[in-house]
Amino acid sequence: MMSQENKALIGVIGGSGLYDPGIFENTREIKVYTPFGEPSDLITLGELEGKTVAFLPRHGRRHRIPPHRINYRANIWALKELGVKFLISVSAVGSLNLSYKPGDFLVPDQFIDMTKGRQYTFYDGPVVAHVSMADPFCNSLRKVILKSAEKLGIVTHSKGTYICIEGPRFSTRAESLVWKEVFKADIIGMTLVPEVNLACEAQMCYATVAMITDYDVFADVPVTAEEVTKVMSDNTAKAKILLREVIRSLPDRPEGECSCCNSLKTALI
Ligand code: ADE
Repeated sequence: MMSQENKALIGVIGGSGLYDPGIFENTREIKVYTPFGEPSDLITLGELEGKTVAFLPRHGRRHRIPPHRINYRANIWALKELGVKFLISVSAVGSLNLSYKPGDFLVPDQFIDMTKGRQYTFYDGPVVAHVSMADPFCNSLRKVILKSAEKLGIVTHSKGTYICIEGPRFSTRAESLVWKEVFKADIIGMTLVPEVNLACEAQMCYATVAMITDYDVFADVPVTAEEVTKVMSDNTAKAKILLREVIRSLPDRPEGECSCCNSLKTALI
């Protein structure tokens, strides 16, 4: 059981480039133990405008953990244990849509799962649960992110489909064309699944800020490592400003149309 001072309503999972948001005050690091082993790193608890936020770098500090080795169950369990109800995930992605450019952000409303062998559920038996994934992201949280981005003038597309591949390799040209032309996905990454599924099972409000770093290989746009590094560092700077505004704007508890906190009520168990 977590002590009262180790509680946070808001959680942030940082992706590639975002290992320390540097926007919180009175920070302290805590180790959280879970039945599924170790989370990606220590969790930083910090304050912003009187709200306590829990931050976890998905790949660990210094990017030690590749996408297929991330202990997603431990990460979500640990954040749930801390009391997190709003979970903002930040991820670097590629673009499969020429209208969505490197440097733009996108808040996906759908995903396609092309991962191959991860730990997808907390309900591994004997209790079995099938949660609905028809609308996998929290619409209320998505709206707060979109409104904040608009206020700040950060170019952010309001919907799109994220295809999650197993990695750690990138797609072949043939795969990239399938994702774009056949599956009609808009962005591509390696870490959304099973983070999103587990957040839903944990009845959290979950949404992703996808930061576009590159066009995927279908586009045949030659890119240099320097260009990608520059886009990533600009994206990270914008993400920090956006997070500050989102955290400031979040209500004290999930409200209204949001059904995330009741996902188990409608699940087949
Ligand atoms: N993350 C960032 N860019 C990506 C791409 N093109 N494919 C998969 N994951 C990515």
